[in-house]
Amino acid sequence: MKKNSVYIETYGCQMNVADTELVQGILKNNGYEMTDNVEQADVILLNTCSVRDNAEQRIYGRLGNFKNLKIGNPELVVGILGCMAERLRKDLIEEKKIVDVIVGPDEYRKLPELIDVAFNGEKGIGVKLSRTETYDDIIPYREDGLQAWISVMRGCDKFCTFCVVPFTRGRERSRSLDSVVNEVKQLSDRGFREVTLLGQNVNSYKDNQFDFADLLAASAKVNRKMRIRFTTSHPQDLSDKLLYTIAENYNICNYIHLPVQSGSNRILKLMNRTYTIEHYLKLIQNAKQIIPGVSFSTDIISGFPTETYDDHVMTLDVMREVKYDGAYMFKYSPREGTKAFKMADDVTEEIKTKRLQEIIELQQQISFEKNQSLIGKEEIVLIEGLSKKSDKFLSGRTDSNKVVIIPFDEKVTEGNYVKVQIVRVTSATLFGNYISLIDESNDELALTA
Ligand code: 5AD
Ligand code: SF4
Repeated sequence: MKKNSVYIETYGCQMNVADTELVQGILKNNGYEMTDNVEQADVILLNTCSVRDNAEQRIYGRLGNFKNLKIGNPELVVGILGCMAERLRKDLIEEKKIVDVIVGPDEYRKLPELIDVAFNGEKGIGVKLSRTETYDDIIPYREDGLQAWISVMRGCDKFCTFCVVPFTRGRERSRSLDSVVNEVKQLSDRGFREVTLLGQNVNSYKDNQFDFADLLAASAKVNRKMRIRFTTSHPQDLSDKLLYTIAENYNICNYIHLPVQSGSNRILKLMNRTYTIEHYLKLIQNAKQIIPGVSFSTDIISGFPTETYDDHVMTLDVMREVKYDGAYMFKYSPREGTKAFKMADDVTEEIKTKRLQEIIELQQQISFEKNQSLIGKEEIVLIEGLSKKSDKFLSGRTDSNKVVIIPFDEKVTEGNYVKVQIVRVTSATLFGNYISLIDESNDELALTA
């Protein structure tokens, strides 16, 4: 019997989640089946992340777990996909003998062939980066559902000095507008209600004369009952055209993920972020004017080389000024090969931890206050299903991506848009009461959103 059962685990960002679906598409086209049971798999693949050291340490830990499986089943093939494959190929092959297949983000087409190489007892390695590969013609494998990720571009040319992505994912390149829009159509036909267009820096999207705003507008036109989200935006490239496109299309969510990284101009310069904090705040003001009710989330790094207490306070000040709806907050982690790696990692672990803690606490307070201001207000919620904690409640999300819990109601099923009144909040969740189902035939969604 042909060995064809594959188990995949995914780590890191949403790009990796999308890449795993792509890999599953490629493998299924080549006769492989997916399994959720690691012990029954002929092939175990880990789609990995290198963005911080703790992500890599988790993978090493996981590889350790697979050692025993391999002792029981010497023919088991273990593979590393994604950013770590690119960064650590030598180490993985020489020191982690348990790894048989190593495939970087631009060589997934070769995966079936490289798995065969491993079945024949050799190492299957594909780690070349490409300037053109976008997998435009490959249909990712997705289970039925409500929400899907679509990667619209790959790589990054920004070279922020702390970041390994330009080295592990290579140069920026975009898919064609037509193929992305077709994918949105297929998802719409299958009953999906929300898509998120993904790229490390989506605002650099370019397909001939079309830019990212054109792609968003074309995607939003496919089905007005489908919510369109996108991530991640770089402050350098967020154009007015894009802001107007969001404002003019009610089914493009009024929500922008706009990583600031630091509130200090000196640190931003060392990070090669190419904007000043004044420019960033102006952008936020501008977006608020063009898109009424827009909300923002961000990424923040604490303890970048040479960061002083004053720099840290500037970051807290920016958080207070913008009042982000959410933030992804990290301790700086030196990555070999990046420019920042050559700077001394001179903020002690203890201080990084303390500053990060202050950042997290401030964000929780801001989120709580922002959520409190919603009490009594009406929101339109896309219902995703039963709440994780109790089947007496339903869970869904607002346009600004906040989780809302409402009491179970027989009139409501997953995939419905529901008008809800917010009655109680925590820093992470809104609780509301059902008001009415949105009448989609009447385009009530357009009127009330
Ligand atoms: N250390 C800590 N955080 C990092 N990020 C990227 N590289 C590093 C690093 N070396 C964070 C940035 C980026 C997010 C995806 O991960 O905030 O926006
Ligand atoms: Fe990394 Fe900067 Fe590119 Fe984001 S924009 S992927 S942080 S280099």
